Amino acid sequence: MLKDKDILDEKNKLLHTKSKDVVFPLEEKDKKMIEDMIEHLRLSQIPEESEKYNLRPGMGLAAIQLGIPKRYFVVVHEYEEGKFKNYVLINPKIVSASSEMIYVEEGEGCLSVNRPTEGIVPRHARITMEGQDMDGKKVSFRAREDLAVAFQHEYDHLDGILFVDKIDKKQPFKNKDKYRAI
Ligand code: NI
Repeated sequence: MLKDKDILDEKNKLLHTKSKDVVFPLEEKDKKMIEDMIEHLRLSQIPEESEKYNLRPGMGLAAIQLGIPKRYFVVVHEYEEGKFKNYVLINPKIVSASSEMIYVEEGEGCLSVNRPTEGIVPRHARITMEGQDMDGKKVSFRAREDLAVAFQHEYDHLDGILFVDKIDKKQPFKNKDKYRAI
C-alpha cells in the first residue's frame, strides 16, 4: 500500500523531467505499482478510508510521482457516488482535443503540490487519448469535463510539467472569461 510520503513533492527535480516510453512486456514492478496507485486513489476518494489511512484525496497519479520516470499514469474516476472507474494509460498520445477550454473553478490539485495555490489552468473540455493497457494492447479513451482535466493533468506529468507551471505568475486569473468554469 502506498503512503502519501511515497509521493514525490514538487521540490524533487525528477518531477520536472520528461519520462521515457514504456517497453513491453511490462515489468512486474510496474504492474504492481499500477495496482497500488489505483488502490491508493480509490481509497483516498472514500471519506472513511482516507480518514482511516490519512490520505489526501486524489484522482490521478503518474509514475514519475512515485519516482518512476516511465510514461504511464492512472486515473480513478468517481462517475457516480461510490462508483469508480479505473483508467490506465501507458505511452499515451493525445489524438484529439476540443477547441472549447475549461478550468476547475476551485483550482486544480496535485498530490505532489503541498501548498495552497491559486489561479486557473486552461484545459480542453473534451479529449481523446490513445495508449496501451497493461498487456500492451491499444486502448482509446474519450474524456470530458473533470475526467478530461485529469487526463491532461496526468499527461503533463509525463513531460515534467506540473499544473502550477501553467498558471500565469503575475496574473493567476488571466483570461478567465475566455474559458468555462467547471
Ligand atoms: Ni499531479
